[in-house]
Order: sequence, then C-alpha cells, then structure tokens
Amino acid sequence: MWRSAVKSAPRQADDTGVGKSLYELIYGSVQTRPFTPVKLSELLTQSRAHNQQLDVTGVLLHQNGVFIQVLEGEEKIVSALYDRISRDQRHKNVAVFRRGPIQARQFAGWSMGFVELDVTAMRTLGSWNPLLQKGAATTPLNAERLRTILATFR
Ligand SMILES: Cc1cc2nc3c(=O)[nH]c(=O)nc-3n(C[C@H](O)[C@H](O)[C@H](O)COP(=O)(O)O)c2cc1C
Repeated sequence: MWRSAVKSAPRQADDTGVGKSLYELIYGSVQTRPFTPVKLSELLTQSRAHNQQLDVTGVLLHQNGVFIQVLEGEEKIVSALYDRISRDQRHKNVAVFRRGPIQARQFAGWSMGFVELDVTAMRTLGSWNPLLQKGAATTPLNAERLRTILATFR
C-alpha cells in the first residue's frame, strides 16, 4: 500500500466553522477504463488544487478498479463538487454511502489524500467491493462501519 497526501492550505484565523455547516459525503464507484499511473497522477494534481481552493478535504482510495472517496467541507460546496464528480465519464456505478453533517473533519490536513490499496487492505474493505462491482452500491450499508475503516487510512 502506498500513500500520497498533500497538506491543505492553512485555514483563515477567523475560519472557526461557526455558521458554516461542515458536511461529509462518502461515495463509491467503478472505473470505466483502467487508470494508468500518469492519468491517476493528473487526476490527483488537478483535484488537490481545486479542493484546496474550495477548502475541501478528504481521501481517495483505489483498488482493483474501485474508488471510494470521502469529501469534507461546506455543505453546498461538497454537494456541488460531488455532482460534478458523479458526472465524470471515467467512472460509473457512482453511489453515495453516506452524506450528512459532521462535527469535525476526519482528514483535516489532506486536500485529497490518495491510497492505492493492497490486497490485505482490500480484504478489510472486502464487503464493499463486490457490491460496487455489481453496481449494487446503493444498497443501504453500514455507513458507520465504513467511516471507521476509512479513518484507519489517515
Ligand atoms: C474518482 C474520481 C474522483 C475525483 N475527485 C475529484 C476531486 O476530489 N476534486 C475535483 O476537483 N475533481 C475530482 N475529480 C474530477 C472531476 O470529476 C472533474 O473532472 C474535475 O473537477 C474537472 O471538472 P471540469 O472538467 O468540469 O472542469 C474526480 C474524478 C474521478 C473520476
């Protein structure tokens, strides 16, 4: 497993989050074509720059053609970003596992962390993978369990 993470821009001193609804969206998807390392790197570079501007943090997991992404930030911004990502032709079966308010960011320092999972880590996520592959990701899932697993990738 290798990790690649970039620190997000320092927050404004007065950005306490008061009056702003901190929001989290976790989705899964299946790539439509294999991502070469170069294409993946381009995607990450672009996403990190953009997310930093939007003050969005999170992580992108990738294994065996499956993506799981956590997006955290202001509710409207996260929702708009997800709408855009979900229309991206590079993946399909895009399905939300969890979306809702959160008290604090789980990935506060990461504009978009990236983890290419190995087989062992994939086993941890094993129960999610078959669902995603079959396009059945909209089945109600135990989102709290998923959150706990994802937190281990920080
Ligand atoms: C799996 C996956 C994750 C993505 N994550 C992000 C992201 O976190 N931030 C982002 O700006 N774009 C992300 N993108 C790219 C967007 O879908 C989109 O291509 C990008 O925002 C540029 O949009 P535009 O072509 O409308 O300018 C992701 C794409 C894929 C396939």
